[in-house]
Amino acid sequence: MSRTSRLRLLAGACLAVLAACSGGDGDPTPTEPQTPATWHKDVAPVVQAKCGACHTEGGIAPFALQTYADAFAHRAAIKASVQSGTMPPWPPSEDCSTYKQDRSLDDAQQAVLTRWVDEGAAEGSAADAVAPATPTGGLSRADVVLQMPESYLPTQAPDDYRCFIIDWPETRTRYITGFRADPGNRATVHHVIAFLAKPAQVSGFQALDDASAGPGYTCFGGPGGDARRATWLGGWAPGSLGQDFPEDTGLRVEPGSKVILQVHYNDHGQRASADRTSVAFKVDDTVKKVAIVQPWTNPDWVSDKVPMRIAAGAEDTTHVWSMEPTPFMSFISEGVFVNNVPITVHSAALHMHTRGTHARAEVQHPSGARTCILDIPRWDFHWQGSYALQRPVQLWNGDRLTVECHWDNSAPGATERRWGEGTDDEMCLGVFYLTQ
Ligand code: HEC
Repeated sequence: MSRTSRLRLLAGACLAVLAACSGGDGDPTPTEPQTPATWHKDVAPVVQAKCGACHTEGGIAPFALQTYADAFAHRAAIKASVQSGTMPPWPPSEDCSTYKQDRSLDDAQQAVLTRWVDEGAAEGSAADAVAPATPTGGLSRADVVLQMPESYLPTQAPDDYRCFIIDWPETRTRYITGFRADPGNRATVHHVIAFLAKPAQVSGFQALDDASAGPGYTCFGGPGGDARRATWLGGWAPGSLGQDFPEDTGLRVEPGSKVILQVHYNDHGQRASADRTSVAFKVDDTVKKVAIVQPWTNPDWVSDKVPMRIAAGAEDTTHVWSMEPTPFMSFISEGVFVNNVPITVHSAALHMHTRGTHARAEVQHPSGARTCILDIPRWDFHWQGSYALQRPVQLWNGDRLTVECHWDNSAPGATERRWGEGTDDEMCLGVFYLTQ
């Protein structure tokens, strides 16, 4: 549990006590548990809702958490992982902002799992079983469904990062208004990121594919080519239901575009098995506001004019890129947006490679105040995602959009790292879904 949530819990308990003392008619949360927690009554509903998407037979997690026996066998690890916050994987800091489809446990859910283990992890009575809550959200309509052209058998272990180019079938300009990925093989697909290649960019990506044997091509940090130009359509990790983009907004897609799927396969020590992942899009003919997905990084790092040096042996190298976007939005967005009009950030992702430790995206206001957009305090390359803000953030003239990245390059034998696409390179990139 983070310090703030502990404080928050304390504050909640204090308020409850105050309410009880003053005879207030609020809705105080009970501070002391009355009966021991049981699997059927208290634990199964939380585990089904928050762990089940991955901890299932044939799922991405190393063991299932479906039955009482499963959970009992792993009770000590469950308590440890839930208390340390490593499970469920949900990287954003709760002190920064709140997001749609939050996978994390709230304080009450965290407390009940811990209490259940402490009290002896009783099964209880099946008569107390609560029907699992139906998940809410998800993609409301699948208008265009695209599948990898052929199935792929991962060739690298334990991790294989592979990109597949898929034709965009529409013959007139339309707008993508929602996204979901459907992994073909849930035991091995760890995450999927979908990119859009505009017609003029297709040949560059096709050349990468042509130069590589077998379906698709190896791609580690992004879809290859110039990372600043690749439009992110969306990210998927086990358990995500996909989502509609913010109402009345969408991404313009010209006929002749291609969708590039970057699939991260992880074999978890098992024999590789083939996958054929598909993606579903909600597509509309018009939208009120055309959105863009904007990568945000220092162009001089990318060109190596001002190298993004991460010295060998350094434990905490920090690089920051900050710029006021609104006066330059027409240029930045290639004419989709106009200059000097506020922009709204609806969702955000951060991207580094394996030596990253902490990344943050925020707005710096002329007053000196800051608005946090996304903060990943313990970077894990394996759990990257795009996070839709509950409360979108607006930037006006004078506001600077900032990304800050930290790396630990102190491992024995480390060499200097700079910007690049490969496993031995690093990146520091914010990716934002924006409208005006
Ligand atoms: C989005 C997928 C996902 C969800 C949701 C998820 N897990 Fe996991 N879990 C994994 C994966 C994958 C691993 C293997 C280690 C890794 O890759 O981080 C794992 C490992 C574990 C481990 C063993 C490793 C450790 O940290 O000790 C425990 C215990 C665990 N999960 C418990 C849970 C519990 C309890 C929940 C729900 C409250 C949960 N997990 C939700 C994917 C998930």
